[in-house]
Amino acid sequence: MSPVLEAGNLRVTFGTSVAAVRGVSLTMNRGETHCLVGESGCGKSVTALAIMGLLSRTAHRSADILRFHDYDLTRLSERGMARLRGDRIAMIFQEPMTSLNPAYTVGSQMAEVFQRHRRVSRATALDRAAELLQRVGITAPGLRLKQYPHQLSGGLRQRVMISMALMCEPELLIADEPTTALDVTVQAQILRLLQNLQRELGLSLLLITHDLGIVARMADRVSVMYAGEIVESAPAGALFAAPTHPYTRGLLRCIPVPRQVRRDEPLGSIPGVVPRIAPDFVGCSFRDRCAQAMPDCARHVPRQRATIDHDYLCRLPTDWTRAEAA
Ligand SMILES: Nc1ncnc2c1ncn2[C@@H]1O[C@H](COP(=O)(O)OP(=O)(O)O)[C@@H](O)[C@H]1O
Ligand code: SF4
Ligand SMILES: [Mg+2]
Repeated sequence: MSPVLEAGNLRVTFGTSVAAVRGVSLTMNRGETHCLVGESGCGKSVTALAIMGLLSRTAHRSADILRFHDYDLTRLSERGMARLRGDRIAMIFQEPMTSLNPAYTVGSQMAEVFQRHRRVSRATALDRAAELLQRVGITAPGLRLKQYPHQLSGGLRQRVMISMALMCEPELLIADEPTTALDVTVQAQILRLLQNLQRELGLSLLLITHDLGIVARMADRVSVMYAGEIVESAPAGALFAAPTHPYTRGLLRCIPVPRQVRRDEPLGSIPGVVPRIAPDFVGCSFRDRCAQAMPDCARHVPRQRATIDHDYLCRLPTDWTRAEAA
């Protein structure tokens, strides 16, 4: 089966001084949940916006491959992209107010999304909106449809945004920290909803999160991002069982047993901060924070295979952790 989404060597720069995404490659299959994890500032949101074609004008995007099914997104016109967006590809933004217009009621915004892509009456669109609000756990959807975004709490706005993204039953949903603002009960409800949709519709989910509880619960595959690069990517089980990149090991340090991760468990904290990377940067961007760094880490860093579907970007051999433990 051909992949739903394929990105190869995706790059995004802002002006001449910031390389926010540096050669990201990933493939998403039907029904798969791919979690993108990493500290704040690693380039997760910019990667998502680059796929959606929603970067700001100051950004420059390039890619060897950027495909959604048979569509070459590097060549698709803005009109063509707008036809896919909201319909077959949808995104839940990190900040709800990015996609909600304060001047229109929830109902009219949700109906508009649906009517833009489907030939249906406004009444049908509003019925669909009410049904989706109910599915994300909003009671009295009729009342909410008549309200404006500023009349809703942050949690409600987030849920409205999630239902809006689901209006057209997208095949690919990119969700950028979709449940961060929500309490644990609602969060569980939304994650269950997403899992049900995956079963029912074969939805592919690119889920950006820094909550390892969510990763352990949802991910089929995990890609760890650092300073604009995917530094390790593996099936979720393999990543938790045998994290190989020193950065991944730092993030996962707080997990004693993968299946017993507590909800809301923060990523392990590693001393230092994510550096800003200029386009001409050479070597391993993690070297200032890495306990294993060696002089050669300032030169080219190879992408290595730990197993056939597990790779990492580091000079260390795959079994270095065993040597470290010995
Ligand atoms: N519009 C922009 N102009 C300049 N730099 C930006 C812009 N948007 C994001 N960046 C930079 O790109 C990097 C990645 O940001 P982002 O993708 O938002 O990180 P994350 O989502 O992983 O927290 C950061 O260094 C950020 O400052
Ligand atoms: S390449 Fe070197 S500095 Fe970078 S993570 Fe590996 S050991 Fe550390
Ligand atoms: Mg972000």
